[in-house]
Amino acid sequence: MLEYISNFRVAAEAAWDIKPGEQVLIVVDDTARPTLYGQAFREVMNAMGAEATLVIIRERELAGQEPPPSVAAAMLGADVVIRIPEKWNMVHTNARRAVTDKGIRFFHVSCGPEPLMRQPVTADDIYQIAQRTEKLTRLLTEADQARVTSLGGTDITMSLRGRRAMGMHPRGRPLGSSPIPGTGEATLPPVEGTAEGVVVVDISIAGREGLLPSPVMWIVERGRIVDFQGPPSIVEWLRDLASRDAGASVLCQLAIGTSHTVPAVASGMNIDHGREGRIHMAFGRNDDFGGTTYSVVHVDGLFGRTSVDLDGVRIIENEKVK
Ligand SMILES: [Fe+2]
Repeated sequence: MLEYISNFRVAAEAAWDIKPGEQVLIVVDDTARPTLYGQAFREVMNAMGAEATLVIIRERELAGQEPPPSVAAAMLGADVVIRIPEKWNMVHTNARRAVTDKGIRFFHVSCGPEPLMRQPVTADDIYQIAQRTEKLTRLLTEADQARVTSLGGTDITMSLRGRRAMGMHPRGRPLGSSPIPGTGEATLPPVEGTAEGVVVVDISIAGREGLLPSPVMWIVERGRIVDFQGPPSIVEWLRDLASRDAGASVLCQLAIGTSHTVPAVASGMNIDHGREGRIHMAFGRNDDFGGTTYSVVHVDGLFGRTSVDLDGVRIIENEKVK
């Protein structure tokens, strides 16, 4: 316990700049780990002189599902919101957008197993993750065209023209992430209608525990997923999600992990999406981060052994950021 308390203090100070007197609202799911970590963060921040309040909400059923209205209202009265979900993040919600539109700091904490939360993270790690994320964010924003490939079989192209990337990292403002366990990503919505190719998701899919039993292929034509191939039960679940509404099948996100502190051995989406050079793509909503698609779903699929070319220039080679 004590080991991750000292880690959480590094997060509160070096990443999030929690100041004495600040109102911090910590919103956690009603499951074991988020509740435990939320309470630990609350103690750390109160010891720093902030006033941190812990709010426990019922676990959401999908990413993008809004928090209860009373909590959404409370978030707007805070200086800082820390969100610790069990699995479904709150990043793609109107409540989060209202918070960051006001300039209130909002940080998403990925919920890792305890040994990972204890792994020491330093202020220097935090600055490195921030710098790498900002660099990739700039490159993605400046690029017109991306091609993403992977040794697992991914080969997809898409237009990024006119799209602004967002860096979500531990020092991101107003939207950021947690340095424990070291998440960071540079992300943007590709231009709708332009993605063509296949994505082979071979690590994990948001909303499912742990690792995939075998890869799942997303077949993308004119910016939409037209079919999935892979284990039948997973394919059936994905087909249901991708047909929820008109925006649900849109290939809506390209995101590149930026953290060197996430272990190479994969454990699942929550943690692994932040590892340097790993890529997640999503289908569904992106109008909350610069796209034009609304949907009730936003489903991320993660894969490794990636390479990325922006306008013909290789910026990632087998997961390594150049
Ligand atoms: Fe996503």
